[in-house]
Amino acid sequence: MTVQPAVQPADRRPLGRTGLRVSPVCVGTSPLASMSALYGYEVPADRAEATILAALRSPFNFIDTSNNYGSGSAETRIGRALAAAGGLPAEFVLATKVDADPVTGDFSGERVRRSLDESLGRLGLDRIQLMYLHDPEYHLTFGEAMAPGGPVRALIELREQGVLAHLGVAGGPVRLMREFVATGVFDVVLSHNRFTLVDRSAGPLLDDARERGVAFVNGAPYGGGILAKGPDAQPKYAYRPASAALAGAVREMRRACLGRGVSPAAAALQFSLREPRVTSTVVGVSEPGRIAEITALMGEPIPDDLWAELDSLAPGSGSWLNLSREGQRD
Ligand SMILES: NC(=O)c1ccc[n+]([C@@H]2O[C@H](COP(=O)([O-])OP(=O)(O)OC[C@H]3O[C@@H](n4cnc5c(N)ncnc54)[C@H](OP(=O)(O)O)[C@@H]3O)[C@@H](O)[C@H]2O)c1
Repeated sequence: MTVQPAVQPADRRPLGRTGLRVSPVCVGTSPLASMSALYGYEVPADRAEATILAALRSPFNFIDTSNNYGSGSAETRIGRALAAAGGLPAEFVLATKVDADPVTGDFSGERVRRSLDESLGRLGLDRIQLMYLHDPEYHLTFGEAMAPGGPVRALIELREQGVLAHLGVAGGPVRLMREFVATGVFDVVLSHNRFTLVDRSAGPLLDDARERGVAFVNGAPYGGGILAKGPDAQPKYAYRPASAALAGAVREMRRACLGRGVSPAAAALQFSLREPRVTSTVVGVSEPGRIAEITALMGEPIPDDLWAELDSLAPGSGSWLNLSREGQRD
């Protein structure tokens, strides 16, 4: 049986307890920063700005960026597009992230304040609706992040001062993200590359988020591109070379999709959209036409038995990204 997708581009869902309402797709902007080492290609500034303008005119109302995408170039390009559009449209939610100092790695409370100031300047805003603590796993232990003088205390103070409306945490290791969610400080958790057709390691985090009323935002439904473009065009998964097992599974899944007349990208995107524990799915794009393509992919009917087949082709947990930086299982 073929089921028409139930999720529509103009739907709005509550973003956890924030009172904000967001679309099921969030426009991801790391490819816009022209990070060719990650994505394999350059993105000129005018194309990046045109992509943001297309997003602002789309049925989606949620954009994701960070202080450090392309050393700030994603935020600068978004800021130029916002200026051209006359500001952030009403009902739009722009999320960015505080980052460690790119030179020293400092991720203290002081650095958080500087990171925020940089972001406000580049974006041309005086307040941020949703600010994530970004990738703490590369710089800090959980205890260091939560300690006095550390980044989380600074984020809470900035929220009390009103310059940040809501807080989130964004990062990889599932075990660490669960610790942050358990603090009750964050309204949103952004996980990436860990709830896709080929990696399900975020399962326990999805459950925690739902139990605590925290919004789960699922980044990188294409694993950084391989699930949309195929392993020949994009041989990396989650920004590092894909294992032979994972690339093989992606090839089999493509064959299964194409054999039923379904775009592999539609299956990868809808895998995330159809999961009720996911509030919004962050899709990275770097050209204006991708915005309309997402809408089309959301509407592609997918036969029920294709989901069962894709499940049967999914690699086992040995291929998942569930290793923490200490080399232990999440
Ligand atoms: N720690 C964090 O906070 C974190 C980590 C990872 C991701 N994120 C967020 O999540 C977003 C998504 O992650 P991501 O961009 O790395 O990965 P992704 O969404 O899985 O994949 C993005 C790639 O897919 C390609 N693509 C998009 N639509 C396509 C289509 N219809 N057909 C073929 N290819 C398509 C894009 O290519 P084009 O460039 O050619 O459009 C881009 O190379 C990021 O942009 C970022 O905002 C956050």
